[in-house]
Amino acid sequence: MIGRDVTKAANLLSQGKLVAIPTETVYGLAANALDPNAIAEIYRIKNRPSFNPLILHVPNWEAAKRYVTHFPIEAEKIAQHFWPGSLSILLPKNNIVPDVVTAGSSQVVLRVPNHPLTLELLNRINFPLAAPSANISNTVSPTSADHVKNGIGNQIDYILDGGRCQVGIESTIISIENGRVQILREGGISQEVILKQTGLKISVSTEKTVQTPGQLKKHYATQKPLYIVDSISEYLKENPTQLCSILYYEKQSNSPTKYSYFLSKDYNLSEIANQLFAMMRLADQDSTDCILIEPIKIEGIGRAIDDRLKRAASN
Ligand code: TXA
Ligand code: MG
Repeated sequence: MIGRDVTKAANLLSQGKLVAIPTETVYGLAANALDPNAIAEIYRIKNRPSFNPLILHVPNWEAAKRYVTHFPIEAEKIAQHFWPGSLSILLPKNNIVPDVVTAGSSQVVLRVPNHPLTLELLNRINFPLAAPSANISNTVSPTSADHVKNGIGNQIDYILDGGRCQVGIESTIISIENGRVQILREGGISQEVILKQTGLKISVSTEKTVQTPGQLKKHYATQKPLYIVDSISEYLKENPTQLCSILYYEKQSNSPTKYSYFLSKDYNLSEIANQLFAMMRLADQDSTDCILIEPIKIEGIGRAIDDRLKRAASN
């Protein structure tokens, strides 16, 4: 059920079965992207709306080229800088990629994940893997094999255990139009880092121009309500009868309740991103009425954290 056997994972995938795979961002629910029946199983198990397309995972840039009609020069530059890594690129697909993978769109998102076990797996098979996050749609994404097991474990044949995800938040998704990089989903690689490393112009897609249909307002949701409040201490004063779990960005000298969770020691954004989903799960499981968190600093990977929190809170 859970193990580190890449050969077993490769065999199951070759037979059209589903396998949960580790990546540096979150665990993915993988299937042979060229097998429409296997893809249909992903949608069924996740209870994912059929209009929400899947990311294609490949071992390297050469493999990526097999599935697109062309690679703009900027895409090549970005892939060279960031692959393998937490950055996915929207490109025009060719007809090898089944329409079910892209939900009918003429464009496909490609990514080379940065995880040794999954890279070994991708190098061993001769097809790309379609893989959304390995959770039921609209719930918190899994960052460990146990998270996957507790969610969809009894519906899949194998979970390839690659330990805890190093980044802990999904990949950044970009498109490239007329030499301009547009961020469709904030994620593991921030716009600051893309700009610094490539010098390319960057814009961020707004709700109005949304091009990633999966970025629904309500997403990443915990079972109990999650509130983003300007001041946790003020909120607790004003709501003395409410029992709250609290997510803090840094260690506190005295925490007001025993249901406190620390996302980092000293407000380190990478550490916060890394811990966020695991802590949201823990807070969701304890015996409180709600989860409180203050707004995050909007810079670097903080933008992706802000995005996930706002979606989780929009219930
Ligand atoms: O880090 C990640 O990207 C993880 C790991 C497993 O690789 N995967 C992931 O997949 O987050 P998923 O399915 O949970 O989110 C993919 C997002 C969705 O919002 C989807 O709408 C968008 O990417 N997307 C995928 N293909 C697309 C396409 N052809 N056009 C527009 N948006 C697309
Ligand atoms: Mg997801």
